[in-house]
Amino acid sequence: MKGNIAIDGPAGAGKSTVARQVAKRLGYLYIDTGAMYRALTWKALKSNVKVTDEAALAELARRTSFEFREASPGELAVFCDGEDVSRFIRSAEVSRLVSRVAAWPKVREEMVRLQRKLAAGGKVVMDGRDIGTCVLPEARYKFFLTASLEERARRRWQELVAQGDNVPLEKVKQEIEERDRRDCQRVVAPLRPAPDAVIIDTSDLTPEEVIEYIIKVVREDRYGG
Ligand code: CDP
Repeated sequence: MKGNIAIDGPAGAGKSTVARQVAKRLGYLYIDTGAMYRALTWKALKSNVKVTDEAALAELARRTSFEFREASPGELAVFCDGEDVSRFIRSAEVSRLVSRVAAWPKVREEMVRLQRKLAAGGKVVMDGRDIGTCVLPEARYKFFLTASLEERARRRWQELVAQGDNVPLEKVKQEIEERDRRDCQRVVAPLRPAPDAVIIDTSDLTPEEVIEYIIKVVREDRYGG
């Protein structure tokens, strides 16, 4: 898995913005693993599969095809059974339930298998919660992005407001806190930095500053040989 870049961190730390741009500028493929868990959650809701039913969710994951395809020039989107589901997977309902779906060991087994396959060719930027610790422990570069809860909630709230959703900031903060708690406390592959990850606190950094820093580390190959 040489040459792969793992970017992990909690909700609102800026992973997807940063990972997408790093991939674009380095000519790597960007894989958003959160979008895969979200797509599965969306499909479970649509298929009336309960988020408490581990076996049924794992079976659903096995039967579903997840692909990343170009939806518009240069922009990859997640396709679930051939359908571009990007506009469905950010809904409040999916956001509320996804960390419960993602906590099931059998679900993760299926998703991790697929994620490793996607990264097998190398030159992939993969973002998620467990990429450096579990999916690609041999990734050459590992980054863990973090920021204060206040700042992360503010960023997510701004995104939602920009989309016309007038949700109160306090509600967004509570949801993020709840999801962080579930992601950090689950038994399998909890959210935590890999021991060899470079930790970046993005609270006072612009996305551009984070992107440039990561690209610099990769280009200079600070990890040696
Ligand atoms: O974009 P945001 O930070 O809100 O979250 P996301 O990356 O879309 O991930 C949504 C949820 O999927 C997370 O809160 C985790 O519960 C789960 N997830 C995971 O368990 N492992 C991953 N590698 C990626 C996401």
